[in-house]
Amino acid sequence: MFDVVVIGSGPAGYVAAIRASQLGLKTLCIEESIQKNGDVSLGGTCLNIGCIPSKSLLDSSHRYYEAIKNLPNHGINIQDIGLDLETMMKRKDNIVKKLTGGISSLFAQNKVEHIVGRGKIISHNKVEVTKPDKSIENIETKNIIIATGSSPIEIPSAKFGKNIVDSTGALSFKEVPKSLGIIGAGIIGLELGSVWSRLGSKVTIIEALDDFLPMTDKDIAKESFKEFKKQGLDIKLGSKLISAKDLKGSVKIIYNNEKDIDMEFDKLIVAVGRAPNTKNIFKDDIGISMSNNFIEVNEFCQTNIPNIWAIGDVVRGPMLAHKGSEEGIMVAERIANNYAKVNYSLVPSVIYSHPEVAWVGLNESELEEKGIQFKIGKFPFAASGRALAIDQSVGFVKILSEAKSDTILGVHVFGPSAGEIVQQALISMEFGASSEDLGMTMFSHPTVSEALHEAALSVNNEAIHIGNRTK
Ligand code: FAD
Ligand code: NAI
Repeated sequence: MFDVVVIGSGPAGYVAAIRASQLGLKTLCIEESIQKNGDVSLGGTCLNIGCIPSKSLLDSSHRYYEAIKNLPNHGINIQDIGLDLETMMKRKDNIVKKLTGGISSLFAQNKVEHIVGRGKIISHNKVEVTKPDKSIENIETKNIIIATGSSPIEIPSAKFGKNIVDSTGALSFKEVPKSLGIIGAGIIGLELGSVWSRLGSKVTIIEALDDFLPMTDKDIAKESFKEFKKQGLDIKLGSKLISAKDLKGSVKIIYNNEKDIDMEFDKLIVAVGRAPNTKNIFKDDIGISMSNNFIEVNEFCQTNIPNIWAIGDVVRGPMLAHKGSEEGIMVAERIANNYAKVNYSLVPSVIYSHPEVAWVGLNESELEEKGIQFKIGKFPFAASGRALAIDQSVGFVKILSEAKSDTILGVHVFGPSAGEIVQQALISMEFGASSEDLGMTMFSHPTVSEALHEAALSVNNEAIHIGNRTK
């Protein structure tokens, strides 16, 4: 009898399994995904087909783009710059292999057992595992953690095929498509659109909504939209896909933006969101409450059945690796009867474009909706010495703090190392900092983080390197 059985080994599941085992609980992790050679493939979407391979290609494509477009501005002239896509893909695959193999070692070091197969909950204390050879093993356990993740949504108007692909297909193109269509100007559309645009594709993104990045602060959305357009991403807002046909060598689409318009691409990526993997993971009579195909949980990720928990992309909240991992730790701690909780108001988000878009906490529209009085501090990277020196002076840092107490409520950044800058802000927010606290903190010069410092000073009209509003 196990104390904990985790179904799924993504960043939610493997972290939960390791923490549970560290806490002395006898733990098993079940993973169905296998590699071509038959070995288990640990690490879930994030390590195999998500965060890691996409960031690897974002980095490689950025270096290539820098070499061809920007190095001459620095007085560096390189002749005969070439693209070897096969090597770029191999580098990505090797990083994935290293990290997924690392999870096996972490499991071994932390005494987490793991088994290859598809897990299905058949009673409150029993999980049935169907192994690759179709044999079945029933496993008894005191607690079950569902961490089965999510998969790309397929839409009827653009069925996946040879040239119509999801994010996984778009991470492994064999050659750079001359023209690339993308359905959805969300995070995947922008990240993978950037990758292929930098490598030479002419990228068109079809987005159904009229607003660009509606989840971000409106100033950030406006500024980043301008920059992405300048970088060559042709983003068509308010455009509804009507049909996409996978012809032999290309894809023909029809979309509507006041009138029907057709376009043809070499490849089409459909990135319209992800759906939770909740089909057939438990017998119907188990009685786990569901909501819109997500597993319903309380703030501690406990389902309506007290010994069954669910974490990561299968439950409410943003589909982000770090959110799932923190939930995994919380659940392991709670199963061990320790106190733990996740601060859902401070989940950071980063779009790894260049420059990055990152934010944490509430944005201006959300504060207005909630009727919270607030102050704004802003600092442009154009006024940052370091940003100019490194040729990355686009964008700004924006801080929103509560009008009376000055407590920081949201930080929004578009610019160099935005993800890292937001992380610094988040740490201060976890400790309840005010913008004055950040303003009184010393920052190294010259760093791009100084923009955070100046934005904090600007909240109270005390910025040094930009003009302030008259008091
Ligand atoms: P998953 O990572 O999806 O893992 C679930 C695992 O469960 C899988 O391995 C699956 O095989 C297994 N499984 C499913 N059903 C069963 C079953 N019945 N039995 C056994 N095993 C099963 N997030 C970020 O935070 N940062 C990023 O930069 C980022 N980039 C991304 C880029 C792309 C292209 C994509 C697609 C996603 C990205 N994400 C990113 C999102 C991130 O990958 C997910 O939020 C994260 O992987 C969710 O973790 P999870 O553990 O809940 O599920
Ligand atoms: P998304 O939800 O970010 O964006 C999907 C976009 O597609 C939305 O703008 C939506 O309006 C649009 N859309 C939906 N249906 C459409 C249609 N029929 N026609 C045109 N547009 C349509 O989803 P995405 O990009 O697929 O990513 C899924 C999730 O993966 C993200 O929400 C995020 O949680 C995670 N992710 C995180 C990353 C990161 O943290 N850097 C990177 C990549 C993915």
